[in-house]
Amino acid sequence: MIRNPLKEVRIAFIGCGVISHNHMRFYTKMDNVKVVAACDIDKPRLEAWCAQYGVEHMYTDYREMLKRDDIDSVDICVHNNLHLPMTLAVLRSGRHCFCEKPMAASYVDAKRMVDEWKRLKEETGVELAIQLDTLFNPMTREAKRMVEKGKLGHVYFVRCQGYRRKNRPGLDSGLSVNFYNKELAGHGAVFDMGVYHIAQMLYILGLPKLERVTGHCYLELPINQKLLEGREFGVEDLGLAFATYENNMTFEFLESWALNIDDIGSSFIAGSEGGLRFVMKPSPGARPSQDLKYITTVDDRDIETDLRTSDYENNFYEKKLYPDTQYDSNFDHWIAYLTGKIAERIDTPEIALQTAFLSEGIFLSSKLGREIRAEEIEALSESIALQKQETPWGTWTYEL
Ligand SMILES: NC(=O)c1ccc[n+]([C@@H]2O[C@H](COP(=O)([O-])OP(=O)(O)OC[C@H]3O[C@@H](n4cnc5c(N)ncnc54)[C@H](O)[C@@H]3O)[C@@H](O)[C@H]2O)c1
Repeated sequence: MIRNPLKEVRIAFIGCGVISHNHMRFYTKMDNVKVVAACDIDKPRLEAWCAQYGVEHMYTDYREMLKRDDIDSVDICVHNNLHLPMTLAVLRSGRHCFCEKPMAASYVDAKRMVDEWKRLKEETGVELAIQLDTLFNPMTREAKRMVEKGKLGHVYFVRCQGYRRKNRPGLDSGLSVNFYNKELAGHGAVFDMGVYHIAQMLYILGLPKLERVTGHCYLELPINQKLLEGREFGVEDLGLAFATYENNMTFEFLESWALNIDDIGSSFIAGSEGGLRFVMKPSPGARPSQDLKYITTVDDRDIETDLRTSDYENNFYEKKLYPDTQYDSNFDHWIAYLTGKIAERIDTPEIALQTAFLSEGIFLSSKLGREIRAEEIEALSESIALQKQETPWGTWTYEL
């Protein structure tokens, strides 16, 4: 339960790039949200953003913005290795914080964020959320309920995957080139898209404990130097892993930004009593609709059934039956919590932290060329959060 529920949530933004517009797509529809200020080091971009949304107060230094007394919560929409220093500054200023995924690009940085948040929450009641879109859809909710009700029996084999034939952000698509800048992003496919799929599976499975993992990160697909314009492509285009979780559960992982193969199937969870296949349906909308197939045996007959979860989105019946999980977006859920409409919320910081734990394990195992155990991930993970950022608009230093 939030300590001091708000009537209206006054929000400020750090970072006015591509993803901030997605946040605004939700906030502009909410009566109880007011965006009061925004910050970006790129002044023309900041001015255009503020003009678009009618936001009056503009800053190029977020520390100046945090001196305002009319901000309740801050959305962090900058690249990965800036998430830790900025989140710490926001929470230390006594504001709630909604940070983009990945929480951080290394496990210790994510851990630091959670530890510091928990400490500050005791003192001031501040809250932290991490953007994890895949947790907020009817398919994830239904899969979680089926696992909790025991419809799958002992879950022992999970395949968790995300596939792009060729869509390296900033290279094959118009997104920011910072997605492949090692210093700012830290990692590629595994920490960028992989976190969505790992977080979804770990949440559905009730955050099982990782025991060991063998991972491989690759950067194999050729890159046309003309597209790089002198920049370096410093991150992986493919991550693979074979992990073992508690209760003898095998977790296979694949995440590609680019891969020379046409079809890799879909994610699934297999148990002794039943299995779930996650079917991605192409959709003309913003998000591909997703459906679940349940595979089981009834009276010695093997059956497969389509659970039609995409029909549940915005479904009256679903929302009445499960009021605490009725939110179809990160943003609806976050604002409902900050305004006291829901007492409990999905613990996105803990889910993001466990996700970072596996992601870091994959990266470390790949680097060491061998299987690595959970205790070693704790011991070997190193901070890569930025303490100094050189930009065309000046040099910034950050306190951790
Ligand atoms: N673009 C997407 O589709 C997408 C989707 C989900 C999550 N994300 C996440 O959102 C984050 C940002 O991605 P993006 O695509 O919006 O990037 P972007 O490059 O479009 O935007 C980042 C913005 O941050 C600003 N910035 C950089 N340093 C700053 C500083 N010190 N102070 C204030 N502003 C600063 C930049 O000028 C830029 O406008 C990443 O962590 C990414 O993983 C992006």
